[in-house]
Amino acid sequence: MAKMGSLGRSGFLRKPNDTMRLIISTVVGVVFGFLIGISFPTVSLTKFTFPSSLFPSIDLTYIEDKNSGLSTQALLNHALTTLNKSSSTQAHNMNDTSKIYVSTNPRGAERLPPGIIVSESDFYLRRLWGKPSEDLTIRPKYLVTFTVGYNQKRNIDAAIRKFSENFTILLFHYDGRTSEWDEFEWSKRAIHVSARKQTKWWYAKRFLHPDIVASYEYIFIWDEDLGVEHFDAEEYIKLVKKHGLEISQPGLEPNRGLTWQMTKRRGDKEVHKETEERPGWCTDPHLPPCAAFVEIMATVFSRDAWRCVWHMIQNDLVHGWGLDFALRRCVEPAHEKIGVVDAQWIVHQGVPSLGNQGNTENGKAPWEGVRERCRKEWTMFQGRMAEAEKAYLKETGIPFNSTNR
Ligand SMILES: *[C@@H]1O[C@H](CO)[C@@H](O)[C@H](O)[C@H]1NC(C)=O
Ligand SMILES: *[C@@H]1O[C@H](CO)[C@@H](O)[C@H](O)[C@H]1NC(C)=O
Ligand SMILES: *[C@@H]1O[C@H](CO)[C@@H](O)[C@H](O)[C@H]1NC(C)=O
Ligand SMILES: *[C@@H]1O[C@H](CO)[C@@H](O)[C@H](O)[C@H]1NC(C)=O
Repeated sequence: MAKMGSLGRSGFLRKPNDTMRLIISTVVGVVFGFLIGISFPTVSLTKFTFPSSLFPSIDLTYIEDKNSGLSTQALLNHALTTLNKSSSTQAHNMNDTSKIYVSTNPRGAERLPPGIIVSESDFYLRRLWGKPSEDLTIRPKYLVTFTVGYNQKRNIDAAIRKFSENFTILLFHYDGRTSEWDEFEWSKRAIHVSARKQTKWWYAKRFLHPDIVASYEYIFIWDEDLGVEHFDAEEYIKLVKKHGLEISQPGLEPNRGLTWQMTKRRGDKEVHKETEERPGWCTDPHLPPCAAFVEIMATVFSRDAWRCVWHMIQNDLVHGWGLDFALRRCVEPAHEKIGVVDAQWIVHQGVPSLGNQGNTENGKAPWEGVRERCRKEWTMFQGRMAEAEKAYLKETGIPFNSTNR
C-alpha cells in the first residue's frame, strides 16, 4: 500500500536547516531511486524498507512508481520545488503563525486558522486517483447501519435492497465474518466494521459520533432480524419529513405478541404519535409509553436528534435498555416529534442472535445471562439519569420536582 502524505505538506519544514537536510536527502534518494529503477525496472519501490537514518525527512514509501527511476526523479523535483516555495512563504509569515489562537475553534484546534479546519466527516468512499472533487458520483444523504452476524445474511440482503443508492450502508459485524459478505454486490460499496460480540449501541457510540455522521440527514440504527417486505426507505423518509418526526420507527406487525401498544402498526394511518396503554401504565398521555416513545430495535434519528442521543448513550451500558424511555429528552415537544410510521411497516422476527453469544455461567443458558444484564443495565441507566438530573437541579437551585422527569 502506498502511504500518501509527507511530501507536499508545507507543515514540516521548520528551519532553513531542514531545507538543506531535505535537499541532501532528496538528492540521495533520487540517485538511489534511479539506481533501483534501473536495476529492477518492474519492481515497486515501496517493497524496500529504507533505513530511516538515511532519509530523515522524507517518507520514501510515498513513491510507488513501477515504471522507472526517471519519473520518480521528476516527481521528487516537482515536490521539491513546491516545498521550496511554500517554505519561503511560511518563513515570511512565521510571526503571524505563532499569533494564531482562535478560541471559537473546536477544542484543541485553537492554533489553526479556522479556514483549514474540517470538523465533520462522512463515510463516502473515494478513489485513489483523479480529482478529489470528482470522486463522488452520488452523495448519499442518509445512513443505514445494521448490526449483523453472517447467519442472518439472507435477511440483511433483503433488507438492504429496500434502501436506495441515497443511503450509505454501514455494517457492524459481531461475529468477525466480513469478507464472506462480498457475495452480495452491494457489499463492495458498504462500510464494514468488525469487533467481536459487541452490541448495536456499543458500535453506535464508537463509530457514529455526530461529527462523523454529520453529512447524513437521517440515520437508521437497525437490528438484523427485521422483516422488510412492506417497507421502502425512500417512502419512509418522505413520511418522516411530512410529519416532522425527529425520532421514529416503522410500525411493527401486530400479530407477534408485542410488548408496547405504541409501536404496533395501525392499519388506518400514515403515522401515529400516541396510543392508549393498559390501565395504569401511563402517568401522562404525553409521556412514554403512551407517547414520545419508540423502541430501540429499528430506530431512525434525524441529524439533530442523533447529536443529542449519542451523548446520552453510556459506554458501559451496551444493551441500551431504558434508552427508549429517555429519547424524549432530546426533542421538544417530544410527543409531536417522536412517532411511528404505519404506512411503511416491518415485522420483528425476534431471531435470537447476538443474545445467544453470551457465556454459560452458573448453569444458566447464554441468553439468560444476557437478558439479566439487559435488565440490570436498565436499572442502572435510570439511576444515572435520576442522579444526574438531581445533581443538576440542585446546582442550579431549581427545586427537584418529580413531575419534571
Ligand atoms: C528555491 O528558492 C530559491 C529562492 O527562494 C531559489 O533561488 C532556488 O532556485 C529554489 N530552488 C529550487 C530547487 O526550486
Ligand atoms: C518577527 O518578529 C520579530 C520580533 O517580534 C522581528 O524582529 C522580526 O523582524 C519579525 N519577522 C518577520 C518576518 O516579520
Ligand atoms: C435519491 O435522491 C434524489 C434526490 O433527493 C431523488 O431524486 C431520487 O429519486 C432518490 N432515489 C431514489 C431511488 O429514490
Ligand atoms: C412540579 O412541576 C409541575 C410542572 O412543571 C408543576 O405543575 C407542579 O406544581 C410542580 N410541583 C411542585 C411541588 O413544585
